[in-house]
Parts: sequence; C-alpha cells; structure tokens
Amino acid sequence: MQPSILIIESDAARRADLELMLQHLGVRTECAEFANITHRAASAYQAVYLGSVEDQELPAGLTELQRLPLLLGAEASWADSVAKDRGEACERIIFPLTMHQVRTAISRLRGRKAPNAATESKCVGDSKAMRIMQGLIEHVAPYDSTVLILGESGTGKELVAHALHALSPRHDRPFVAINCGAIPQELMESELFGHEKGAFTGAVAARKGRFEAADGGTLFLDEIGDMSLTMQVKLLRVLQERTFERVGGNRTLRCDVRIVAATHRDLEAEVAAGRFREDLYFRLNVFPLESPALRERVEDIPDLVREFSKRLGMRGLGSLRYTSEALQALQVYPWPGNVRELGNLVERMAIMYPNGVVRAADLPKKYRSGVQDLEAAAAAQLPEVGRQEIEMLLPSAGLDLKEYLATIEIAMIQQALDLSGGVVARAANLLHLRRTTLVEKLRKYEISTVVREATGT
Ligand SMILES: Nc1ncnc2c1ncn2[C@@H]1O[C@H](COP(=O)(O)OP(=O)(O)OP(=O)(O)O)[C@@H](O)[C@H]1O
Ligand SMILES: [Mg+2]
Repeated sequence: MQPSILIIESDAARRADLELMLQHLGVRTECAEFANITHRAASAYQAVYLGSVEDQELPAGLTELQRLPLLLGAEASWADSVAKDRGEACERIIFPLTMHQVRTAISRLRGRKAPNAATESKCVGDSKAMRIMQGLIEHVAPYDSTVLILGESGTGKELVAHALHALSPRHDRPFVAINCGAIPQELMESELFGHEKGAFTGAVAARKGRFEAADGGTLFLDEIGDMSLTMQVKLLRVLQERTFERVGGNRTLRCDVRIVAATHRDLEAEVAAGRFREDLYFRLNVFPLESPALRERVEDIPDLVREFSKRLGMRGLGSLRYTSEALQALQVYPWPGNVRELGNLVERMAIMYPNGVVRAADLPKKYRSGVQDLEAAAAAQLPEVGRQEIEMLLPSAGLDLKEYLATIEIAMIQQALDLSGGVVARAANLLHLRRTTLVEKLRKYEISTVVREATGT
C-alpha cells in the first residue's frame, strides 16, 4: 500500500513545500483543516503532519489523532509537550525543509509501528489488586453507567478509561478526552459544548465541542476535581437533562455520550471543603473504580519493567535487563509517582545503559535507599560478614553451573562458620542443614574447621 500522510498546516507556503517533498518521496498526501478531522478520517492515514494550528483547537483534535504516528513542525509552541507525551511515535521537522530531513523523518516513522490500541492501552499486571480492577472494568464496561475513576497520579486512570471504552458497545465510536485541569476556565464552556460563529471575540467560525465530538461514544472528563464551580453547574445540567446548547447558540442538542470521569483528588474532601458540588459528585459517583497505587501491587513491577523495556525497544532504544537485586530494590521503593514514575525510570536507565544490565547499584540513589535498609537489616543480623553479592545473570558466554553453584555453596558455608565462631552445629542451623550434611560438605570441599572448632568451643 502506498504510504499516506495527512497534512494539517495553516501556513500555505509550508504546506506546499512539504507536500511537494513528500510526493517526491512517493508518499500520498492530503491536506485538511484541523477542526474538521474526525476519527474515521484520521485513521485512513498512516501518519499525520501537524504544523501550526490554533492552540485552543489542539486537545480535541489530538484525541482523534492519538493512535497515529505524528510528524511535527518543530516551531509550533505546543510541539514540545506533544513530543514528550508522544515519544513513541513522533518525528519533528524544522523549516526550511531539506529533502534529507524529510526523508529521514519519514523512514523513521515507517520503521516504527503505529502504537496500536491493544498494546498501548494494555494494562500490565497480574496482582490481586489489578485482577480485581480488571474484573470491575469488564463488569461495568457494557453499560452506559457513569464511571468515576479515582486513584493517585500516574496509576493508570487514563488507561482504565480507554479500557472501559474499548470493552463497551461504543468502541467503534469516538473516545474523546478533555483535561478539565489544563484548559483555561474561560475556554472550558466552549470546549465542552462548542460555540456558534460570533459567540465571542475570536469565534470566527462555529465549532463543535467535545460533547458533540464524542457523540455515540465516550467522553472522558479527566481531572474532574479541577473543574471550576461555575462549570460544575453547567455540566450537572447536561448530565441531568442530557441536552445542551452551543455557546452563543439557541438550538438544543441532545447528547448521547457515556461519561467517564477521573481525578487524583479526594472528591469527598473537596465536597466537604466546598470546592466540589455534592450533587455533581453523586451524579458522577455511580460506579467508582479505584486505580491501585503501585506500592500496593509491587509484584507487578517486574512485568511493568519488562513491558516498558519492550516499548522502548520498539522506539529504537536498546532493551536492557535488570538484576534480581535491582528489581527487589524497586519493589521496596514507595513510588509516589506510581507507574508513570516507573516508566520514566526505565527510560532513563535505557538511555544510560543501552543494551546493558541494570544492577541495584546502577539505580539512581533514591531508588536504592530501600535496599540500603534491607542491607542494613541483613548486616545487623550477620555482623562481621562481608555480604557477597550474587550476580544472577547468565553471562553471554555461558557458565559452568555446577562449579558456579559450588562457589556459592562454599562462600555461604564459610560465612556461616565465621558467624557461628566455627561451631559446626550452629553453622548447620544457620544454613538450615543437618549437622551431618554440613560435615559431609566440609569434607567434600576440604574446608577446615579445626582451628575454629577449637576456638569456638
Ligand atoms: N497497568 C499498566 N500497564 C502498563 N502501563 C501502565 C499501567 N498503568 C499505567 N501505565 C502507564 O503509566 C503512565 C501513566 O498512566 P495514566 O496517564 O493512565 O495515569 P493517570 O492515573 O491518568 O495519571 P494522572 O493522574 O497523573 O493523570 C502511562 O504512560 C501509562 O501507559
Ligand atoms: Mg490522567
């Protein structure tokens, strides 16, 4: 199939330059206005170029484009944050364009798979907490009931929202997200409900809001706890009556959307403090889902590390391995930033040690403090013994397992003898062995205990 790119660029000269170069490279192009992109239209392309677009139009449009690899015009003021969010499938080009630059960007985009919905929104984790949540998601997804997703920052609330949509009968209709905390309050009303031409200064054309964009699908009200009280009143009305008007319009529009809301705030406390309307809280809190903190499911950490490493591998960053000590260190760290923080750490490590091995000692200091506690506790139990760190990785050249295990066995026996002052019976206790078994091993490895026995008794 001929590769195709959708071009969204309000600057006509740039648009023409880019089209010409892309066509020269055998890429089919089409230009469109940002505001008119629909989910279906966007998915007909393999990638989208975003140049200068109106800032305030951006979030709605981006959700439509969110599954496609992006080519970004680098000067756009928002490009940085988009690139950061979209690390996985994003290339930037800088005007004036050169053929080399465009060719490189295109071949990089081609080399990558578009993040497909299934892997991107894959909830990794088989802990009890995750299984419970997955079960609840599957239960409630088929119904139109409003779902309120609660949980600390970075726990995966957005993934839950996507999963609810994907498992619902609305899955082939749009999923539209709006971050109620990120949009200036004065724009919020028109963002949600749209506006008619001339509704306010700058409203040069009529525009649909998110409720209309999500028609038949799911509207995800992210960070609902950050919505102003004024907007809360307006939202409540729509949720009650299921109708709304565009700003500056008098046509009443029906809304057919499933509402999913999320917040990291404690909404009951917000209600008590007078910052959140109680009636809206009850409207939203039909089916609450709690996204568990990472420290409550540390057993998922190895799987998450693997998953993030895999995703980085797909982005061309070398995949790396973690020693069991390193994974253990990560499991005692409290993770205030939850899964997002873990993802960032894995990326940082992949940059620092491409294709390498991450040992506990390689982790940034704050992730090691738990291990130091563990080590301190162990050291308190085993006072004079220099603890030998066991490297659990198979060297690429392989190893003689029998000999390797014997080395470990000898080191442990020697430590036990040191600790027990050479008293074999006590050393055997420490090693959970019968005395006679230890004596056999001492003979086998020709470990002398004579002096110790003498001083120890
Ligand atoms: N169970 C999981 N499996 C795989 N990736 C996950 C999981 N949970 C979270 N992530 C990843 O962690 C990052 C943060 O997740 P998400 O944005 O959904 O969190 P959030 O709860 O909405 O955070 P915030 O409150 O800060 O908005 C994302 O990159 C997401 O893909
Ligand atoms: Mg979120």
